[in-house]
Amino acid sequence: MNILVAGGAGYIGSHTCLVLLEAGHQVIVADNLINSKMEAVRRVEQLTGKNIKFYLADVTDEKAMEQLFSENKIDGIIHFAGLKAVGESVEQPLKYYHNNVVSTMVLAKMMERYGVKKFVFSSSATVYGDNEIPFVETMQLLPTTNPYGQTKVMSEQILTDLAAVHEDWAVTLLRYFNPIGAHPSGRIGEDPQGIPNNLMPYISQVAAGQREYLRVWGDDYPTIDGTGVRDYIHVMDLAEGHVKALESMDEQKGLAVYNLGTGRGTSVLELVKAFETVNKIKIPYQVKERRAGDIAEFYADAGKAARCLGWKTTRTIEDMCRDTWNWQSQNPRGYEE
Ligand code: NAD
Ligand code: UD1
Repeated sequence: MNILVAGGAGYIGSHTCLVLLEAGHQVIVADNLINSKMEAVRRVEQLTGKNIKFYLADVTDEKAMEQLFSENKIDGIIHFAGLKAVGESVEQPLKYYHNNVVSTMVLAKMMERYGVKKFVFSSSATVYGDNEIPFVETMQLLPTTNPYGQTKVMSEQILTDLAAVHEDWAVTLLRYFNPIGAHPSGRIGEDPQGIPNNLMPYISQVAAGQREYLRVWGDDYPTIDGTGVRDYIHVMDLAEGHVKALESMDEQKGLAVYNLGTGRGTSVLELVKAFETVNKIKIPYQVKERRAGDIAEFYADAGKAARCLGWKTTRTIEDMCRDTWNWQSQNPRGYEE
């Protein structure tokens, strides 16, 4: 299939492009490089020995998308092109609503105009809010506390309404848990700009000596050791989930919602310990106050994706820690030379 990967230069997008190319699909990337580097696309081409057709374009720009769709016959779209910094979304809500919701609407318009019938959307476990665990797809969603989360809820709603009227469309909402890790080659990985907010990029910068110590946000949660528990998923497992979702769409029409997680929770201190053991590097840390807006513990019920897509994760927490460090140590300044 000819797949448009919107946001394909980013962290999850670049790994998904690689898996798509290896599975024999053709890949067209549209990315404005607001949070990524062209070098990621080049490295995916090097790793696979295949070409990617690249458009330096903003997905909210309808004219630019018109040009792309008129020049290419697109069979399916994966929409990764979102902004994802939760704190920034609280300070600049309009930027987030515009980028993340308008991009979804523009891509949906192109589907109507150009007869594209397959759409995969990057959603997030954040749409569940502070729900009972494990999170199951059938749950009533609870309010999310920030504009970033709202943009995911809104995009899900827009796509749900569209799937209801376009009976020949297949629309899949993928709710990711916490992606970490990198391609085992160490050539592509997560390249955060500035000080990372998320746990694993922070740990790997401490390991690299770029930050003095990890701040553990709270050790008084009702969890195994008092620290926050999350469902960490290897980015390669996540990428494979997207390809499975796309490839299932010939049989499955209408709306489908899947959790992409492992179904297992890991605490902050368990992740630190695993990283130290696998990579033989000490990670100094200090316990601090809880971070505002954090939930104590969540992980996926991963049963539906296994039943319906035949997809489940195969990589362990140790694989995630090893591959993260392999990427970080080979590329201490990310994609910058
Ligand atoms: P990322 O920032 O690495 O990738 C997003 C890519 O989209 C970047 O290359 C960026 O330049 C591009 N982009 C953003 N807005 C664009 C626009 N208007 N036009 C063109 N390109 C644009 O982030 P990621 O971690 O790869 O996340 C991909 C998607 O998955 C996002 O929608 C994110 O919200 C969602 N998601 C991520 C996580 C996570 O923890 N990484 C968890 C749940 C959901
Ligand atoms: C965060 C976002 C969430 C987003 C997700 C994936 C917030 C409040 N939530 O979730 O909306 O979907 O990233 O991008 O930002 N931790 C530390 N020290 C650190 C960093 C994190 O102790 O320096 C802890 C956190 O308290 C948490 C765990 O590590 O318990 C994981 O944190 P993080 O990687 O930020 O992911 P989420 O909190 O799940």
